[in-house]
Amino acid sequence: MTHPASTATAEELARLDEACFPASERWSIAAWSDELLAEDRLLGFRRDGGTLVAAASVRVVAGTADLHRIMVDPRHRGRRIACGLLDEMLRRAGVEAARMLLEVRHDNPAALALYRGFGFRVIATRPDYYGTGAHALVLERGLAGPADASAGAGPSPDPVADKTSRCDKLGDQRGGGLA
Ligand SMILES: CC(C)(COP(=O)(O)OP(=O)(O)OC[C@H]1O[C@@H](n2cnc3c(N)ncnc32)[C@H](O)[C@@H]1OP(=O)(O)O)[C@@H](O)C(=O)NCCC(=O)NCCS
Repeated sequence: MTHPASTATAEELARLDEACFPASERWSIAAWSDELLAEDRLLGFRRDGGTLVAAASVRVVAGTADLHRIMVDPRHRGRRIACGLLDEMLRRAGVEAARMLLEVRHDNPAALALYRGFGFRVIATRPDYYGTGAHALVLERGLAGPADASAGAGPSPDPVADKTSRCDKLGDQRGGGLA
């Protein structure tokens, strides 16, 4: 698997991460460095001019994609940047994977609305996963999967997976027009 690791550095990713997550959930420069170097990751980026304003990371293993991170600079939110980036990651992951999983805090309405808009559904809850009273919801969505996925091992077909995403209506505006 290849990804454009060289188009973003661990330092700028950690800087963006710091602006997007509370201290207890932040990824360090070392963590982002590992993410950039791992062979089984798909990474997506958005820039405004030269500045990194959004990023996403997905791990694909044995036909299952895990959305590790999606984050948008607070100054650029509400412009459907996450919508465009998630749409891109779903399409790229769907080349190899038949489903995507993710974990999200139960009290993160923006992320939950984003994911629900793309057809993710809750399949499990992990109480106190992020700390006392901060539960994790595990969400799942079907993906296109590799061409031979229908031969057996994939999950049951997801009626949402084959539909166009909510972002398709954006046309050329997808991703807020960013690079
Ligand atoms: C969640 C996040 C990525 C959304 O980024 P964004 O670029 O502002 O989102 P978009 O503008 O693409 O919005 C897409 C959809 O998300 C939902 N959404 C986004 N912000 C929202 C908010 N503040 N409240 C409710 N829903 C929201 C909406 O459903 C929206 O679709 P709509 O415009 O048709 O209503 C961003 O808020 C963020 O980086 N949060 C911190 C990091 C994080 O929590 N990441 C997810 C867990 S790993």
